[in-house]
Amino acid sequence: MKVTTILGSPRKKGNTATVLGCFEEDIVRRGHEVHRINIVESDVKGCLGCRACDNAIDYPGCVQKDDAMAIFDRMIEAEAVVYASPLFCWGFTSQMKALIDRHFCLVKNYFTPEHKSFLENKATALLVTCTGPIKNNADLIQVLFDRLNRFVKCNMVGKYIVPFCTKPDALGSEARETAKKMAEDILHP
Ligand SMILES: Cc1cc2nc3c(=O)[nH]c(=O)nc-3n(C[C@H](O)[C@H](O)[C@H](O)COP(=O)(O)O)c2cc1C
Repeated sequence: MKVTTILGSPRKKGNTATVLGCFEEDIVRRGHEVHRINIVESDVKGCLGCRACDNAIDYPGCVQKDDAMAIFDRMIEAEAVVYASPLFCWGFTSQMKALIDRHFCLVKNYFTPEHKSFLENKATALLVTCTGPIKNNADLIQVLFDRLNRFVKCNMVGKYIVPFCTKPDALGSEARETAKKMAEDILHP
């Protein structure tokens, strides 16, 4: 299986990268392929809201010339996509949110029986690290991810939240277990 992972943290060696790394190691150890995108190394601009993509049906049709389409190509060629982000003000990092907004061009005929998506039927998972608890903190990001999956017609296999993170080297066995469970769920949904 080909898995594309998107690290939405500005810190390439932070908590989210560390847990995501455990997941990726597990996937590779089990004979599968991983391609990681570090969003902070990519140029992904915010959606212009120009709706030019509404005029395209058989292709995404975004007019912006940045790295978003290359990232989408990596997602389209994979069977599974992991969205990994630290929790920033109860949501995704702004870098990840820009990419999520740009998903608009991947969906056509929303709200009609012809609703289609270039990501249709992909397995997806959400990985979040945060300093606080899950309750009353990492709840909105999960609702957003559920809605995104319905919009892009993906099969969400799970949402994996690692609460009470301090530093990467203080991440305990719970974080590794979360990464392992995510790998198991992605490979055997
Ligand atoms: C701008 C900013 C906003 C944050 N907002 C929250 C928050 O709303 N809830 C929370 O529990 N932690 C919050 N945190 C803490 C991070 O989610 C946490 O430290 C995370 O594990 C960092 O991941 P990283 O090391 O991959 O960047 C915030 C951190 C920053 C820098």
